[in-house]
Amino acid sequence: MACLFNLFLFFSFAISSSYCYDTLNEGASLSTEELDQVLVSSNGVFSAGFHSVGQNAYCFAVWFNDPPYNDNNNPNGSTIVWMGNRDKPVSGKKHSFLSLQKDGNLVLQDGGGGGLIIWATHTISVSSTFLQLLDNGNLVLMKVKEHHYSKDVVLWQSFDFPTDTLLPLQPLTKSTKLVSSISQNNFSTGFYIFSFDDNNLLNLVFDNSREDWSVYWPPAWLKSWEAGRSTYNDSRIAVLNSMGNFSSSDNFTFISSDYGSDTIQRRLRMDYDGNVRLYSRKIDGEGWYVSWQAISDPCKVYGICGVNGLCSYDYSSGRKCSCLPGHKMKDPSDWSKGCEPKFEPSCNRNHSKFIRISSAEFYGYDYGNFRNYTFSQCQDLCLSLCNCKAIQYTFFDSTSTYNCYPKTLLANGYRSPTFFGDLYLRLPKSYDNNTTTLEESSLKCFDEPELLNKEKENQLVKHLLWFAVGMGGFQIICFVSVWSLLFIKNKKNSESEGGRYLIAATAGMCKRYNYDELKKATRGFKEEIGRGSGGIVYKGVLPDDRVAAVKLLINEANNNDQGEAEFLAEVSTLGRLNHMHLMKMWGYCAEGKHRILVYEYLEHGSLKQNLSSNVLDWEMRFEIALGTAKGLAYLHEECLEWILHCDVKPHNILLDSDYSPKVADFGLSKLLKRGELNNSAFSRIRGTRGYMAPEWVSNQPITSKVDVYSYGLVVLEMLTGRSPTTDVQTVNDTGEIENRRSLVSWVRETIKETSSDEIAVLLEKIVDPSLGGEYDMKEMEKLLEVAMKCVEEDKGARPTMGQVVEMLLDY
Ligand SMILES: *[C@@H]1O[C@H](CO)[C@@H](O)[C@H](O)[C@H]1NC(C)=O
Ligand SMILES: *[C@@H]1O[C@H](CO)[C@@H](O)[C@H](O)[C@H]1NC(C)=O
Ligand SMILES: *[C@@H]1O[C@H](CO)[C@@H](O)[C@H](O)[C@H]1NC(C)=O
Ligand SMILES: *[C@@H]1O[C@H](CO)[C@@H](O)[C@H](O)[C@H]1NC(C)=O
Ligand SMILES: *[C@@H]1O[C@H](CO)[C@@H](O)[C@H](O)[C@H]1NC(C)=O
Ligand SMILES: *[C@@H]1O[C@H](CO)[C@@H](O)[C@H](O)[C@H]1NC(C)=O
Ligand SMILES: *[C@@H]1O[C@H](CO)[C@@H](O)[C@H](O)[C@H]1NC(C)=O
Ligand SMILES: *[C@@H]1O[C@H](CO)[C@@H](O)[C@H](O)[C@H]1NC(C)=O
Ligand SMILES: *[C@@H]1O[C@H](CO)[C@@H](O)[C@H](O)[C@H]1NC(C)=O
Repeated sequence: MACLFNLFLFFSFAISSSYCYDTLNEGASLSTEELDQVLVSSNGVFSAGFHSVGQNAYCFAVWFNDPPYNDNNNPNGSTIVWMGNRDKPVSGKKHSFLSLQKDGNLVLQDGGGGGLIIWATHTISVSSTFLQLLDNGNLVLMKVKEHHYSKDVVLWQSFDFPTDTLLPLQPLTKSTKLVSSISQNNFSTGFYIFSFDDNNLLNLVFDNSREDWSVYWPPAWLKSWEAGRSTYNDSRIAVLNSMGNFSSSDNFTFISSDYGSDTIQRRLRMDYDGNVRLYSRKIDGEGWYVSWQAISDPCKVYGICGVNGLCSYDYSSGRKCSCLPGHKMKDPSDWSKGCEPKFEPSCNRNHSKFIRISSAEFYGYDYGNFRNYTFSQCQDLCLSLCNCKAIQYTFFDSTSTYNCYPKTLLANGYRSPTFFGDLYLRLPKSYDNNTTTLEESSLKCFDEPELLNKEKENQLVKHLLWFAVGMGGFQIICFVSVWSLLFIKNKKNSESEGGRYLIAATAGMCKRYNYDELKKATRGFKEEIGRGSGGIVYKGVLPDDRVAAVKLLINEANNNDQGEAEFLAEVSTLGRLNHMHLMKMWGYCAEGKHRILVYEYLEHGSLKQNLSSNVLDWEMRFEIALGTAKGLAYLHEECLEWILHCDVKPHNILLDSDYSPKVADFGLSKLLKRGELNNSAFSRIRGTRGYMAPEWVSNQPITSKVDVYSYGLVVLEMLTGRSPTTDVQTVNDTGEIENRRSLVSWVRETIKETSSDEIAVLLEKIVDPSLGGEYDMKEMEKLLEVAMKCVEEDKGARPTMGQVVEMLLDY
């Protein structure tokens, strides 16, 4: 048959089963008693038939066959793309069947339920009909043409009734939507919906039809045009093409990370965890991988930890849910149901107290927004309301006042170190303070099969997006899309932060190069432009004519396969980081013992070179200090990978054509020596003499504050023009040259010696003489103040990089 022929043609292996038809004719049926009776599309890619969804439970479904495309019904390996009766599975023990009736109706009857009709297409046709599974995965019910000159007519098609998946060229329209399933193994209708709303906008909605309904993508606080959307076109249609370009009538578009190849299988799915992801699979049969997703930060999915739950990030396992103090999980197996109070809520204001949960935010369900309220006013307000569950008390930057938001429902809670606001939870006074800790439990994370497959060379796919999923849990992904920065941006501070998270708009695709390509690009590693602890950097020109900095890593790890897989996982993380103040990684090479990173090339070289050649005026120095702080803050906080740089110094801060700084060499400490957080290797002294925080030598835990310390020294170096690596020489009162003091203690002592109202005198003593006295005193003072805070010996006294940014912007 045609089907057999095609299979032989394209995949050249033998087929054993007798079932290989793509068509079900009128009067015929498929039964749960013979599960290997399935329709197979003529290209062998899709099957339609009964699919097991639990013990003795079957759904009529369409799925991707696993390559190589044999026609065995393999319930383990197949990927379901459509279901007829997702909420009402039929019994498999008794004779349940799908039949195409003579009147043109396609019906599914449950043998267990005495032949009850579970599902039907409700089509009617007097002329004869047939059901066909097309090569694109569309299952169509056709009416046979009446005249030789007319065409077969589509009576019904599965593409018009999607479940949670959209296939290439299957339009999402006014009347269709994708609805997630309950969980990975339960395909029943879940709570997350991807569809057009009444304003013609494509969005993501959480709807558990119990107590909670909310749009969470695009972010609710953004106006549609701010999110790049348009409400103007009411055709409401969105399509993914086979190359990986998705485009919607509201102007939302994206292209997949592997865009450009139509030999890749693709499916867009509303996943049960509330994210929409595009999955891709190469035809020669490795697993699915994610080539795009809507939301980069899993805590930003609405309802993920349920009502009274709090989502937070966890370095090792990704996101984590916990119950608020005094609450317990409603259903220990399902976080989406949230938590319930263990106490009897009381309306009596005299019987309530508040406990603080720091850096926590709950979105929505505000009784109101009360500006410039003192804490006691806010508390009073809440106590006077019977249904006030808590108050969100948040600092409002632009006015330097606090806002009070009494909460009537605690939904969508998350905790982030970058959120400067607290939640005060109302509890009965009698409630024991000792038991008011958070009840935690790691969320069973998303464990789809897309994981880091050992890469085999594949010429088909040049741009691969590696996901570390599966290598020990869901890692928070700092995925680069415009959305990530929109979500990351704290809505309440957005005015004052002026572009804090401006991220280069392009998707961060990280390309794998082979050694010969890079050798050629650098003309045999000829032009050295830098040298550091991690390796040597050469200038090169890539095949696509981009000028690049190519870093040959000194590879200390042994070069077994394990090392390569880990390297790839790390590189994938770094490659996805995308921030205007971080040096962009374009690609990498891992071949044999070679480990090479390819970065953008920055023409003005390092801050170190520029400081020594005296080209930086005062304003540039301030902007460099601010930009560097933003880059580091992004590494520490926003990107949620908690990447410590560990070697911040002027050599690692590069300047682009506008003298805008970009932090380089981040993540190298991780790349070169892995697993450091758990073993003692990490406590080995790292970094560069002069810029190292005292923790490195005093055997204290290493935290992001080591970078803050080094940053402080970089700022001092820019201020004073003196390098902390060479001893500071000063002339003391008696005219002798002193050269024993460190830069920090010299500045500290100079400050001490000068009385506080003589700031001009102090600055004159400290500031780089090459500036010739041309600087803004206020700015300079601010920078000095920030730098001195950063170089506190006690790491607890140092600000976070996020706070540094705030302080500098505040100025
Ligand atoms: C499916 O998986 C189960 C358990 O993992 C296994 O016992 C079974 O043999 C598998 N079936 C097929 C057809 O591979
Ligand atoms: C799937 O979830 C639904 C709704 O929670 C439930 O009624 C059904 O029993 C579950 N099915 C399976 C197979 O667990
Ligand atoms: C949609 O996007 C295109 C290209 O980005 C732009 O030219 C056009 O103005 C946008 N339409 C609306 C209504 O915003
Ligand atoms: C994707 O498709 C849209 C609409 O057809 C088109 O405007 C856009 O240019 C395409 N993008 C790419 C990268 O091809
Ligand atoms: C609306 O969007 C559709 C699909 O993107 C497009 O074909 C159509 O021309 C648009 N209509 C208007 C009025 O812009
Ligand atoms: C709360 O306490 C105050 C002062 O102790 C008292 O005047 C008031 O009546 C009490 N309110 C209630 C509802 O018990
Ligand atoms: C906030 O309230 C205080 C006291 O009522 C007042 O002095 C201050 O001006 C207010 N600030 C703003 C920004 O309205
Ligand atoms: C419990 O904590 C609250 C606020 O933190 C405090 O006011 C109260 O005195 C404490 N109660 C007990 C019994 O320690
Ligand atoms: C609460 O903790 C304190 C100190 O940790 C202890 O003295 C007190 O007995 C505890 N109270 C209860 C009710 O367990």
